[in-house]
Amino acid sequence: MRKLFVTGGAGFIGSAFVRLLLDELPACEIVNFDALTYAGNPDNLAGLDPARHRFVRGDICDRAAVLGALEADTDALFNFAAESHVDRSIHSADEFLRTNVLGTQVLLDAARSLGARRFVQVSTDEVMGSLPERDDAFFTEDSPFAPNSPYSASKAAAEHLVRAAHHTHGVDAVVTRCGNNYGPRQFPEKFLPLMLANAMNDEPIPVYGDGQNVRDWIYVEDHCRAILLAAERGRAGAVYNVGARNERRNLEVAESVLDALGKPRSLLRFVKDRPGHDRRYAIDPGLAERELGWRPRETWQSGLKKTIEWYAANGEWLARARGGAYREFYERQYGEN
Ligand code: NAD
Ligand code: TYD
Repeated sequence: MRKLFVTGGAGFIGSAFVRLLLDELPACEIVNFDALTYAGNPDNLAGLDPARHRFVRGDICDRAAVLGALEADTDALFNFAAESHVDRSIHSADEFLRTNVLGTQVLLDAARSLGARRFVQVSTDEVMGSLPERDDAFFTEDSPFAPNSPYSASKAAAEHLVRAAHHTHGVDAVVTRCGNNYGPRQFPEKFLPLMLANAMNDEPIPVYGDGQNVRDWIYVEDHCRAILLAAERGRAGAVYNVGARNERRNLEVAESVLDALGKPRSLLRFVKDRPGHDRRYAIDPGLAERELGWRPRETWQSGLKKTIEWYAANGEWLARARGGAYREFYERQYGEN
């Protein structure tokens, strides 16, 4: 029986990863450690097998809580827990430094002291900053760090700590850096579910700046498969970029969503740009393809279709996620526009 420790497993990607583990690794037991911040959602864990999945509410910055929950012979620790929204990090960076930086170090220390066999840090392409609009420029594992938002700076700092723990203390660590995920159960402050939710309710869709920023979109399950392969086949100390070769301009993404829902383009609203808005992300996933044997299974069309169907079928989930903390943030972020 493999023992796995997942942090942030009540969030969007972490909960998809836990589902993937339970589906694909019959002989595994998972401890899912999550603080249930505004982005953590117990609804995301509905229906999981209690015999193989144990939820523990706890903060990764709380050393005693982490040491209490992490079992001594854990095979792999996957760190998904993070503050993850760029716009929130622009309002205030404090929680980003606490969770993303200090929390990662607490986990590295705990993994080392309890002898966890492998540490997987779930990072982001955003640590490499913004690419020029040329279509022959891509992020590789050798691209320099150039984070531009407090969010990406905190994720870059976390990567440095993982690297240092590997180099200095011999922690067996692997880092994955992925682009923009989409799929079921994404908190609706992020662009794709925000558009879906607004359009389904005939509310305007806020598009920052000129809408020409480019993101490299990947279906969440494809990302999760890459993380699992990195844990199973990745070289200790290595970084793997994960992307589905699916660059899209924001405006094109917004139009696809409106078209798929049969909603008019008149719902688009150009609003004030995000300060420091990265222009383009584009990932060269060649190393993950060669060394991990990873390939995405979904196309943009199939992934978007699945995503839209999930949100359409899960109106209650969406209505609950769009309550309290979400509304407060929405007013602050979009109120002036
Ligand atoms: P999310 O915001 O949906 O979920 C984050 C989860 O972490 C939540 O369940 C939250 O409760 C938990 N958490 C936050 N602070 C915590 C703390 N101090 N202790 C314990 N748990 C805490 O985020 P997501 O989109 O699922 O992203 C997961 C990870 O993947 C993050 O590390 C993020 O940086 C990374 N990532 C995300 C994307 C993306 O497109 N969403 C792309 C690349 C990398
Ligand atoms: P987001 O989902 O916040 O992810 P990230 O900033 O990590 O890439 O945003 C995706 C893109 O969509 C990004 O270029 C910013 C843009 N965007 C909007 O145009 N309007 C919005 O309301 C939001 C949230 C994002």
